[in-house]
Amino acid sequence: MAKDIDWGSLAFGYIKTDKRYVSNFKNGEWDEGTLTEDNTVVLNECAGVLQYAQTCFEGLKAYTTEQGKVVVFRPDLNAQRLADSARRLECPVFPEDRFVDAVVKTVEANLEFVPPYGSGATLYLRPYLFGSSEVIGVKPATEYQFRLFATPVGPYFKGGVRPLTLRISDLDRAAPNGTGHVKAGLNYAMSLYNIVDAHNQGYDENLYVDAKTRKMIEETGGANIIFITKDNKVVTPKSDTILPSITRRSLMYVAKEYLGLEVEERDVMVSELGDFAEAGLCGTAAVISPVGKIVDHGEEICIPSGMEGMGPITQKLYDTLTGIQMGRIEAPEGWIKIIK
Ligand code: PLP
Ligand code: COI
Repeated sequence: MAKDIDWGSLAFGYIKTDKRYVSNFKNGEWDEGTLTEDNTVVLNECAGVLQYAQTCFEGLKAYTTEQGKVVVFRPDLNAQRLADSARRLECPVFPEDRFVDAVVKTVEANLEFVPPYGSGATLYLRPYLFGSSEVIGVKPATEYQFRLFATPVGPYFKGGVRPLTLRISDLDRAAPNGTGHVKAGLNYAMSLYNIVDAHNQGYDENLYVDAKTRKMIEETGGANIIFITKDNKVVTPKSDTILPSITRRSLMYVAKEYLGLEVEERDVMVSELGDFAEAGLCGTAAVISPVGKIVDHGEEICIPSGMEGMGPITQKLYDTLTGIQMGRIEAPEGWIKIIK
Protein backbone atom coordinates (compact mmCIF):
# COMPACT_ATOMS: atom_id res chain seq x y z
CA MET A 1 0.00 0.00 0.00
CA ALA A 2 1.45 3.37 -1.03
CA LYS A 3 1.73 5.96 1.74
CA ASP A 4 -0.83 8.72 1.87
CA ILE A 5 1.36 11.37 0.23
CA ASP A 6 0.31 13.95 -2.35
CA TRP A 7 2.96 12.71 -4.82
CA GLY A 8 2.17 15.33 -7.44
CA SER A 9 3.01 18.26 -5.20
CA LEU A 10 6.29 16.92 -3.76
CA ALA A 11 9.29 19.21 -3.96
CA PHE A 12 12.92 18.04 -3.94
CA GLY A 13 13.15 17.66 -0.18
CA TYR A 14 13.68 15.26 2.71
CA ILE A 15 10.91 13.10 4.10
CA LYS A 16 11.74 10.50 6.71
CA THR A 17 11.08 7.03 5.33
CA ASP A 18 10.84 3.78 7.32
CA LYS A 19 14.32 2.27 7.05
CA ARG A 20 17.84 3.23 6.06
CA TYR A 21 20.97 1.11 5.59
CA VAL A 22 24.06 1.54 7.81
CA SER A 23 27.46 -0.14 7.80
CA ASN A 24 30.45 0.82 9.94
CA PHE A 25 34.14 0.50 9.09
CA LYS A 26 36.39 -0.27 12.06
CA ASN A 27 39.71 -2.09 12.52
CA GLY A 28 40.21 -2.16 8.78
CA GLU A 29 36.91 -3.77 7.77
CA TRP A 30 33.26 -3.07 7.06
CA ASP A 31 30.71 -4.79 9.31
CA GLU A 32 27.87 -6.78 7.73
CA GLY A 33 25.51 -3.76 7.62
CA THR A 34 21.93 -3.45 8.78
CA LEU A 35 18.68 -1.63 8.19
CA THR A 36 17.61 0.73 10.97
CA GLU A 37 14.67 2.97 11.78
CA ASP A 38 16.98 5.51 13.42
CA ASN A 39 17.48 8.52 11.13
CA THR A 40 19.97 10.24 13.44
CA VAL A 41 23.76 9.96 13.57
CA VAL A 42 25.65 10.51 16.82
CA LEU A 43 29.30 11.41 16.37
CA ASN A 44 32.37 12.34 18.37
CA GLU A 45 32.80 16.13 18.37
CA CYS A 46 36.13 15.65 16.60
CA ALA A 47 34.92 13.27 13.83
CA GLY A 48 36.80 13.57 10.52
CA VAL A 49 33.64 14.60 8.70
CA LEU A 50 33.01 17.46 11.13
CA GLN A 51 36.56 18.80 11.14
CA TYR A 52 37.88 18.33 7.61
CA ALA A 53 34.75 17.46 5.61
CA GLN A 54 35.87 13.91 4.90
CA THR A 55 32.70 12.82 3.15
CA CYS A 56 31.43 11.84 -0.28
CA PHE A 57 27.99 10.88 -1.56
CA GLU A 58 25.88 9.64 -4.44
CA GLY A 59 22.38 10.16 -5.78
CA LEU A 60 20.16 7.78 -7.74
CA LYS A 61 16.47 7.09 -8.08
CA ALA A 62 13.93 4.25 -7.86
CA TYR A 63 10.98 4.37 -10.25
CA THR A 64 7.65 2.61 -10.60
CA THR A 65 7.41 1.45 -14.20
CA GLU A 66 4.40 1.37 -16.47
CA GLN A 67 4.21 -2.37 -15.74
CA GLY A 68 4.07 -1.72 -11.97
CA LYS A 69 7.61 -2.91 -11.24
CA VAL A 70 10.00 -0.99 -8.99
CA VAL A 71 13.41 -0.43 -10.59
CA VAL A 72 16.61 1.56 -10.10
CA PHE A 73 18.71 3.07 -12.86
CA ARG A 74 22.36 1.97 -13.27
CA PRO A 75 23.25 1.62 -9.56
CA ASP A 76 26.52 -0.10 -10.53
CA LEU A 77 27.78 3.22 -11.92
CA ASN A 78 26.98 5.04 -8.67
CA ALA A 79 28.82 2.29 -6.80
CA GLN A 80 31.87 2.83 -9.02
CA ARG A 81 31.77 6.59 -8.66
CA LEU A 82 31.46 6.43 -4.86
CA ALA A 83 34.50 4.15 -4.87
CA ASP A 84 36.40 6.73 -6.97
CA SER A 85 35.33 9.52 -4.61
CA ALA A 86 36.35 7.47 -1.56
CA ARG A 87 39.82 6.82 -2.99
CA ARG A 88 40.35 10.53 -3.69
CA LEU A 89 39.33 11.41 -0.10
CA GLU A 90 41.34 8.61 1.58
CA CYS A 91 38.14 6.89 2.74
CA PRO A 92 37.90 3.09 2.56
CA VAL A 93 35.96 1.93 -0.50
CA PHE A 94 32.53 0.47 0.25
CA PRO A 95 32.53 -2.67 -1.94
CA GLU A 96 30.61 -2.06 -5.16
CA ASP A 97 28.51 -5.25 -4.93
CA ARG A 98 27.57 -4.34 -1.36
CA PHE A 99 26.57 -0.85 -2.50
CA VAL A 100 24.11 -2.36 -5.00
CA ASP A 101 22.86 -4.76 -2.32
CA ALA A 102 22.31 -1.81 0.07
CA VAL A 103 20.30 -0.03 -2.65
CA VAL A 104 18.11 -3.10 -3.12
CA LYS A 105 17.57 -3.60 0.62
CA THR A 106 16.74 0.06 1.26
CA VAL A 107 14.24 0.26 -1.59
CA GLU A 108 12.66 -3.05 -0.56
CA ALA A 109 12.29 -1.72 2.99
CA ASN A 110 10.58 1.47 1.78
CA LEU A 111 8.37 0.21 -1.05
CA GLU A 112 5.40 2.18 0.28
CA PHE A 113 7.34 5.37 -0.39
CA VAL A 114 8.05 4.64 -4.05
CA PRO A 115 5.82 7.11 -5.91
CA PRO A 116 3.30 5.54 -8.30
CA TYR A 117 3.81 5.46 -12.06
CA GLY A 118 2.79 8.68 -13.73
CA SER A 119 2.84 10.76 -10.54
CA GLY A 120 5.87 12.79 -11.62
CA ALA A 121 7.66 11.87 -8.39
CA THR A 122 10.42 9.31 -7.74
CA LEU A 123 12.20 7.79 -4.76
CA TYR A 124 15.57 9.51 -4.41
CA LEU A 125 18.33 7.44 -2.84
CA ARG A 126 21.23 9.12 -1.07
CA PRO A 127 24.21 6.85 -0.29
CA TYR A 128 27.10 8.52 1.54
CA LEU A 129 30.27 7.78 3.38
CA PHE A 130 32.06 9.78 6.07
CA GLY A 131 34.93 9.73 8.56
CA SER A 132 33.35 9.03 11.96
CA SER A 133 36.37 8.71 14.27
CA GLU A 134 38.25 11.63 15.76
CA VAL A 135 41.04 13.45 13.93
CA ILE A 136 42.65 16.68 15.00
CA GLY A 137 45.82 16.71 12.92
CA VAL A 138 45.03 16.84 9.21
CA LYS A 139 44.80 13.15 8.36
CA PRO A 140 42.19 10.57 7.42
CA ALA A 141 39.91 9.09 10.09
CA THR A 142 40.34 5.44 11.02
CA GLU A 143 36.62 4.68 11.33
CA TYR A 144 33.87 5.37 8.79
CA GLN A 145 30.17 5.02 8.27
CA PHE A 146 28.32 4.23 5.04
CA ARG A 147 24.63 5.13 5.06
CA LEU A 148 21.90 5.04 2.47
CA PHE A 149 18.51 6.64 2.96
CA ALA A 150 15.53 7.13 0.67
CA THR A 151 13.22 10.11 0.30
CA PRO A 152 10.39 10.64 -2.20
CA VAL A 153 11.02 13.71 -4.37
CA GLY A 154 9.45 15.88 -7.01
CA PRO A 155 11.26 18.16 -9.47
CA TYR A 156 14.64 19.63 -8.48
CA PHE A 157 13.93 23.11 -9.82
CA LYS A 158 10.99 25.02 -8.36
CA GLY A 159 8.13 25.22 -10.81
CA GLY A 160 8.86 21.82 -12.41
CA VAL A 161 10.22 21.42 -15.91
CA ARG A 162 10.62 24.96 -17.26
CA PRO A 163 13.48 26.72 -19.06
CA LEU A 164 16.12 27.93 -16.61
CA THR A 165 18.20 31.07 -16.50
CA LEU A 166 21.89 30.53 -15.67
CA ARG A 167 24.64 33.01 -15.01
CA ILE A 168 28.28 32.52 -15.87
CA SER A 169 29.97 32.33 -12.50
CA ASP A 170 32.96 34.34 -11.34
CA LEU A 171 33.63 31.87 -8.53
CA ASP A 172 35.02 28.43 -9.29
CA ARG A 173 33.79 25.02 -8.17
CA ALA A 174 36.81 22.95 -9.19
CA ALA A 175 40.52 23.59 -9.59
CA PRO A 176 42.68 21.86 -12.17
CA ASN A 177 43.91 18.67 -10.44
CA GLY A 178 41.36 19.24 -7.65
CA THR A 179 38.23 17.29 -6.69
CA GLY A 180 35.70 18.40 -9.33
CA HIS A 181 35.58 14.91 -10.87
CA VAL A 182 34.44 13.25 -7.63
CA LYS A 183 31.31 13.72 -5.56
CA ALA A 184 32.94 15.16 -2.45
CA GLY A 185 30.76 17.04 0.03
CA LEU A 186 33.33 19.83 0.02
CA ASN A 187 32.51 20.65 -3.64
CA TYR A 188 28.97 21.48 -2.56
CA ALA A 189 29.88 23.31 0.68
CA MET A 190 31.96 25.77 -1.30
CA SER A 191 29.16 26.31 -3.83
CA LEU A 192 26.55 27.38 -1.26
CA TYR A 193 27.57 31.04 -1.08
CA ASN A 194 27.40 31.23 -4.85
CA ILE A 195 24.02 29.51 -5.25
CA VAL A 196 22.41 31.71 -2.58
CA ASP A 197 23.81 34.75 -4.35
CA ALA A 198 22.62 33.48 -7.76
CA HIS A 199 19.08 32.94 -6.41
CA ASN A 200 19.11 36.39 -4.79
CA GLN A 201 20.00 37.86 -8.18
CA GLY A 202 17.17 35.96 -9.89
CA TYR A 203 19.17 33.15 -11.53
CA ASP A 204 18.32 29.46 -11.24
CA GLU A 205 21.91 28.19 -11.22
CA ASN A 206 25.56 29.10 -11.69
CA LEU A 207 27.27 27.94 -14.86
CA TYR A 208 30.91 27.33 -14.02
CA VAL A 209 33.77 27.86 -16.44
CA ASP A 210 37.20 26.21 -16.29
CA ALA A 211 39.25 27.81 -13.52
CA LYS A 212 42.44 28.04 -15.56
CA THR A 213 41.46 29.93 -18.72
CA ARG A 214 37.86 30.95 -17.85
CA LYS A 215 37.02 30.45 -21.52
CA MET A 216 35.44 27.01 -21.43
CA ILE A 217 32.08 25.83 -20.08
CA GLU A 218 32.16 23.17 -17.37
CA GLU A 219 28.87 22.42 -15.58
CA THR A 220 26.51 23.84 -12.96
CA GLY A 221 26.60 23.29 -9.20
CA GLY A 222 24.46 20.15 -9.40
CA ALA A 223 24.26 19.00 -13.02
CA ASN A 224 26.21 18.58 -16.27
CA ILE A 225 25.17 20.54 -19.36
CA ILE A 226 24.41 19.49 -22.92
CA PHE A 227 23.91 21.62 -26.00
CA ILE A 228 22.17 20.94 -29.31
CA THR A 229 23.68 22.55 -32.40
CA LYS A 230 21.56 24.03 -35.20
CA ASP A 231 22.25 20.86 -37.20
CA ASN A 232 21.06 18.62 -34.33
CA LYS A 233 24.38 17.45 -32.91
CA VAL A 234 24.46 16.77 -29.18
CA VAL A 235 27.50 18.46 -27.64
CA THR A 236 28.77 18.26 -24.07
CA PRO A 237 31.91 19.68 -22.43
CA LYS A 238 34.90 17.40 -22.11
CA SER A 239 36.82 18.21 -18.96
CA ASP A 240 38.47 16.28 -16.18
CA THR A 241 37.27 18.78 -13.59
CA ILE A 242 33.55 18.06 -14.02
CA LEU A 243 31.56 15.26 -12.40
CA PRO A 244 31.12 12.31 -14.80
CA SER A 245 27.33 12.43 -14.75
CA ILE A 246 25.63 9.07 -15.21
CA THR A 247 22.63 10.83 -16.75
CA ARG A 248 24.86 12.63 -19.25
CA ARG A 249 26.75 9.47 -20.20
CA SER A 250 23.40 7.68 -20.63
CA LEU A 251 21.99 10.53 -22.73
CA MET A 252 24.97 10.57 -25.07
CA TYR A 253 24.41 6.84 -25.65
CA VAL A 254 20.66 7.33 -26.15
CA ALA A 255 21.27 10.22 -28.57
CA LYS A 256 23.56 8.09 -30.71
CA GLU A 257 22.04 4.61 -30.46
CA TYR A 258 18.32 5.34 -30.07
CA LEU A 259 17.92 8.64 -31.89
CA GLY A 260 20.68 8.35 -34.48
CA LEU A 261 22.13 11.75 -33.59
CA GLU A 262 25.75 12.76 -33.82
CA VAL A 263 27.36 13.30 -30.42
CA GLU A 264 30.47 15.24 -29.47
CA GLU A 265 32.34 15.49 -26.20
CA ARG A 266 34.69 18.43 -26.65
CA ASP A 267 35.75 21.83 -25.36
CA VAL A 268 32.77 24.17 -25.36
CA MET A 269 33.80 27.83 -25.44
CA VAL A 270 31.88 30.59 -23.68
CA SER A 271 32.19 32.50 -26.96
CA GLU A 272 30.13 29.90 -28.87
CA LEU A 273 27.13 29.81 -26.50
CA GLY A 274 25.14 32.02 -28.87
CA ASP A 275 25.50 29.45 -31.67
CA PHE A 276 23.53 26.62 -30.07
CA ALA A 277 19.86 25.88 -30.73
CA GLU A 278 19.02 24.20 -27.40
CA ALA A 279 20.63 23.56 -24.04
CA GLY A 280 19.78 21.46 -21.01
CA LEU A 281 21.06 20.55 -17.57
CA CYS A 282 21.23 16.85 -16.87
CA GLY A 283 21.57 14.82 -13.71
CA THR A 284 19.70 12.45 -11.45
CA ALA A 285 17.95 15.29 -9.63
CA ALA A 286 17.71 17.63 -12.65
CA VAL A 287 16.70 14.81 -15.11
CA ILE A 288 16.87 17.09 -18.17
CA SER A 289 15.98 20.67 -17.38
CA PRO A 290 15.93 22.97 -20.39
CA VAL A 291 18.06 26.11 -20.33
CA GLY A 292 16.43 29.19 -21.85
CA LYS A 293 18.94 31.92 -21.09
CA ILE A 294 22.57 32.26 -20.05
CA VAL A 295 23.75 35.61 -18.72
CA ASP A 296 27.45 36.39 -19.19
CA HIS A 297 28.21 39.49 -17.12
CA GLY A 298 25.19 41.43 -18.28
CA GLU A 299 25.16 40.01 -21.80
CA GLU A 300 22.02 37.91 -22.27
CA ILE A 301 22.44 34.88 -24.45
CA CYS A 302 18.94 33.71 -25.36
CA ILE A 303 18.83 30.09 -26.42
CA PRO A 304 16.59 29.88 -29.54
CA SER A 305 14.38 27.14 -27.98
CA GLY A 306 13.10 29.95 -25.74
CA MET A 307 11.56 30.39 -22.32
CA GLU A 308 8.30 28.53 -22.94
CA GLY A 309 9.31 24.89 -23.14
CA MET A 310 11.92 22.34 -24.18
CA GLY A 311 13.49 22.37 -27.62
CA PRO A 312 12.51 19.45 -29.88
CA ILE A 313 15.76 17.45 -29.53
CA THR A 314 15.92 18.01 -25.77
CA GLN A 315 12.33 16.78 -25.60
CA LYS A 316 13.21 13.63 -27.57
CA LEU A 317 16.16 12.96 -25.27
CA TYR A 318 13.96 13.53 -22.22
CA ASP A 319 11.19 11.26 -23.51
CA THR A 320 13.63 8.49 -24.42
CA LEU A 321 15.59 8.56 -21.17
CA THR A 322 12.52 8.75 -18.92
CA GLY A 323 10.85 6.14 -21.16
CA ILE A 324 13.74 3.77 -20.46
CA GLN A 325 13.63 4.53 -16.73
CA MET A 326 9.87 4.03 -16.48
CA GLY A 327 9.67 0.89 -18.59
CA ARG A 328 8.00 2.37 -21.69
CA ILE A 329 11.07 1.86 -23.87
CA GLU A 330 13.37 -1.15 -23.84
CA ALA A 331 16.56 -0.40 -21.90
CA PRO A 332 20.09 -1.24 -22.98
CA GLU A 333 21.38 -4.39 -21.30
CA GLY A 334 22.27 -3.85 -17.63
CA TRP A 335 20.77 -0.37 -17.21
CA ILE A 336 17.75 -1.36 -15.14
CA LYS A 337 17.94 -3.22 -11.84
CA ILE A 338 14.57 -4.69 -10.94
CA ILE A 339 13.77 -4.56 -7.22
CA LYS A 340 10.22 -5.92 -7.34
N1 PLP B 1 27.33 17.40 -11.76
C1 PLP B 1 27.21 17.65 -10.44
C2 PLP B 1 28.07 18.70 -9.86
C3 PLP B 1 26.29 16.92 -9.67
O1 PLP B 1 26.16 17.16 -8.36
C4 PLP B 1 25.49 15.94 -10.29
C5 PLP B 1 24.55 15.16 -9.52
O2 PLP B 1 24.76 14.03 -9.18
C6 PLP B 1 25.65 15.73 -11.66
C7 PLP B 1 26.56 16.48 -12.37
C8 PLP B 1 24.83 14.71 -12.38
O3 PLP B 1 25.31 13.42 -12.16
P1 PLP B 1 24.36 12.16 -12.29
O4 PLP B 1 23.77 12.21 -13.64
O5 PLP B 1 25.26 11.00 -12.12
O6 PLP B 1 23.34 12.28 -11.23
C1 COI C 1 21.92 14.35 -7.93
O1 COI C 1 21.50 14.72 -9.02
O2 COI C 1 21.70 13.22 -7.48
C2 COI C 1 22.72 15.23 -7.11
O3 COI C 1 23.40 14.74 -6.26
C3 COI C 1 22.64 16.66 -7.32
C4 COI C 1 22.45 17.34 -6.01
C5 COI C 1 23.03 18.68 -6.13
C6 COI C 1 21.02 17.32 -5.60
